[in-house]
Amino acid sequence: MTNYKFLIWFLFLVATAFVGVTYAGNFYQDFETTWGDNRAKILENGNLLTLSLDKASGSGFRSKNEYLFGKFDLKLKLVPGNSAGTVTTYYLSSLGSTHDEIDFEFLGNLSGDPYILHTNVFAQGKGNKEQQFYLWFDPTKDFHTYSILWNPQSIIFSVDGTPIREFKNLASKGVSFPKSQAMRMYSSLWNADDWATRGGLVKTDWTQAPFTASYRNFNAQACVWSSSSGSSCSSSKKSPSSSSSSSSSQSWLRESLDANGQAKIRWAQKNYMIYNYCTDTKRFPQGSPPECSFA
Ligand SMILES: *[C@@H]1O[C@H](CO)[C@@H](O)[C@H](O)[C@H]1NC(C)=O
Repeated sequence: MTNYKFLIWFLFLVATAFVGVTYAGNFYQDFETTWGDNRAKILENGNLLTLSLDKASGSGFRSKNEYLFGKFDLKLKLVPGNSAGTVTTYYLSSLGSTHDEIDFEFLGNLSGDPYILHTNVFAQGKGNKEQQFYLWFDPTKDFHTYSILWNPQSIIFSVDGTPIREFKNLASKGVSFPKSQAMRMYSSLWNADDWATRGGLVKTDWTQAPFTASYRNFNAQACVWSSSSGSSCSSSKKSPSSSSSSSSSQSWLRESLDANGQAKIRWAQKNYMIYNYCTDTKRFPQGSPPECSFA
């Protein structure tokens, strides 16, 4: 190689290394595939992850880190076409019998019929706090951002930046809130045709398999938990130059809904909510759970 060509090649290497550092938040770095063998794939140098489901198995991945509070964004493009019977999940969980968990689940449907976005919160092993929504777009056409903000004051679920649900910390009113167990992020695509679509009436059409969901742009501004060193709060997107600006980059830890955010939640709930445990009087004949009266 001439010196000149070597120089160009060297500059190219430096440039790609720099890009790698600046745009950290890469699926190779942040996640590991956990089941389904090669049905879970990390592609495009770590920028794209796909899960697939066929008759033999679904697939899944999880974060390498455990988090104790954080603001998480992930872009998903759901199984297109006839996705009836399939469920794509994206959740935080501490696992175990007294687990804390914050759930997004996407229940598939026949072509052209609406997906259901199912949400739930578990604290100390107790869930039963389901709210379900239709979306205001086709979630199979493009990537959309689904976010979980989990801080000591509340849990806020958002879709493309629009908050759709808030679960407040009402520990002072005797309502359990996830605040002391570290959680990993999990995602999976699996067959749930015994309940997912129209309550189990519509079964998975295996002639359409494999079913595939795609993921991009994971971003966590979060407190990473380690059993040896406790909690350390940062952003996975941090570039070397921003690593000192810690206090300003942790505004998510105190973030709450302003009047505009409250208005957006009311909009989403009025127009797109199809199930709310708080108003399910058949299920809670003695009266709705206590947190419902503070919403
Ligand atoms: C599927 O479509 C039917 C008919 O529009 C609808 O009732 C149902 O809520 C949709 N979603 C799921 C996941 O069943």
